[in-house]
Amino acid sequence: MDNKVTSEIYNEFDYTSPLKPIINTENVVSKFRFKCPPKKPLTDKDGDIIVCRKPKKENYRIIQIEHSRRTALDLVGLQMWRGSLLLADWLIFNSDKFPKDNFILELSGGVGFTAIVASMFYPVICTDVEKGDLFQLLNGNIKRNQLLVRNPIHILNLDFFTQIIPSFVVENLDKISVILAAEVIYDDELTDAFLRTVEHLLSVSSTEKALYLTFERRYVFTIEDCDAVAPCFEHFLRQIHLSKLSYEEIPLDFPQYFEYDRIKQMVFCKLKLKV
Ligand SMILES: C[S@@+](CC[C@H](N)C(=O)[O-])C[C@H]1O[C@@H](n2cnc3c(N)ncnc32)[C@H](O)[C@@H]1O
Repeated sequence: MDNKVTSEIYNEFDYTSPLKPIINTENVVSKFRFKCPPKKPLTDKDGDIIVCRKPKKENYRIIQIEHSRRTALDLVGLQMWRGSLLLADWLIFNSDKFPKDNFILELSGGVGFTAIVASMFYPVICTDVEKGDLFQLLNGNIKRNQLLVRNPIHILNLDFFTQIIPSFVVENLDKISVILAAEVIYDDELTDAFLRTVEHLLSVSSTEKALYLTFERRYVFTIEDCDAVAPCFEHFLRQIHLSKLSYEEIPLDFPQYFEYDRIKQMVFCKLKLKV
């Protein structure tokens, strides 16, 4: 039996790029177009907005990502998932929210899409487990998008199961404004290890911070329930309840800059240490 999986996003938009893969010939390169947010309106000396009479042309930019289109479940990091696009929208919307010299820490960054977007505004620490040619892909994608990358991206190994936090992360913990993760809720053991890691990172930091997490709530029909249920999501909520973490849903009311379906099953939440 073929146990391979494919991210649904590839069939929803045409992301095809004519560029060739360089890390693995079986990979593809996809192009993700995004709308640059309008610049802050100019104001006169009284603080009134100077109205621009000419309609402005939409300004688009493109991120090119080499990735697999289909993988076994243990190599899903070689693909692109919907949550990374949602997180990227949020980062663009919040490009001025955090101090410019502080880091954004991304856990399980996969092929580097969110890290590249974050690096347009902030220095980034992007972690994942070095499986397959993941780190080669990540480095290759950073090089491919050199013109967009404005800040350093540090790539480090961080496995939720061993919970060995890289020394660079430990040393800079207080200079990390925010922790991000996309699409890591799909396997109950991984969810448990992920939550232990988040709890650890938040409790050893002397500055208060939060983890922002995006993922797709995936439904399956079970005979037992005679209904469609989302077992991974339900397990995640149960484990949060038992942990030292608080859970807050973030409304999806910020603008969409990238092209993808922001489906209603998307979850965006903020985890913090309970007070
Ligand atoms: C579905 S992919 C999401 C990748 C990327 N964040 C995205 O949304 O496109 C799941 C991610 O979890 C990572 N992962 C799997 N096992 C892990 C572990 N034990 N520790 C840390 N990350 C892990 C994978 O390498 C992969 O990057």
